[in-house]
Amino acid sequence: MTKSDPMVHLIEHPLVQHKLTLMRQKSASTTSFRTLLNELAMLMAYEVTRDMPLQDIEIETPLEKMTGRVIDGKKLALASILRAGTGLLDGFLAVVPGARVGHIGLYRDPATLQAVEYYFKMPKDMPSRDVIVVDPMLATGHSAIAAIARIKALQPRSIKFACLLTCPEGVAALRAAHPDVAIFTAAIDRQLNSHGYILPGLGDAGDRIFGTQ
Ligand code: URA
Repeated sequence: MTKSDPMVHLIEHPLVQHKLTLMRQKSASTTSFRTLLNELAMLMAYEVTRDMPLQDIEIETPLEKMTGRVIDGKKLALASILRAGTGLLDGFLAVVPGARVGHIGLYRDPATLQAVEYYFKMPKDMPSRDVIVVDPMLATGHSAIAAIARIKALQPRSIKFACLLTCPEGVAALRAAHPDVAIFTAAIDRQLNSHGYILPGLGDAGDRIFGTQ
């Protein structure tokens, strides 16, 4: 499907692929899963922020004055889809420490697999911010679609979606619902199973991050 879709960015850097493979293994401990997720998030943040606007500032090196270029990290808002999105926050914040952080709580109704909202808190001044919505898994797409619709109502400057893993069904659903939102992912796996899990995937990201299984 979408390797040719310019709005779907598959991050194929060898470090990203290596760490993702280690995380997928069922033998990976909670500690190593978290460590790898943190490292992967930093590497992904590097790709996702590639087109962030720069502004000129005057600085002085030990030798002379010059005009340097900096990003305004405060203009960035990370929006974490609870609970697994939390696992990506530290890595992103290590790279862009000034970013503001919002949270949206959605759970999947196990019968319908539809997203049900229970929490929503975003930073102020959303119309002046670029938003990166983070969730490790883009599976059915229901949570991502609902989260992005809520965030769009606040009229941010732009929205991107970053996940570790997705599948053709998830990409198709999110692209159809929000064609203006670019997707960044480290892998597009084979398919969803009947419970809405990605195959081969890595299991339940939340349980693996928090050690709750
Ligand atoms: N959420 C997960 O944590 N894993 C999947 O495979 C799908 C959704």
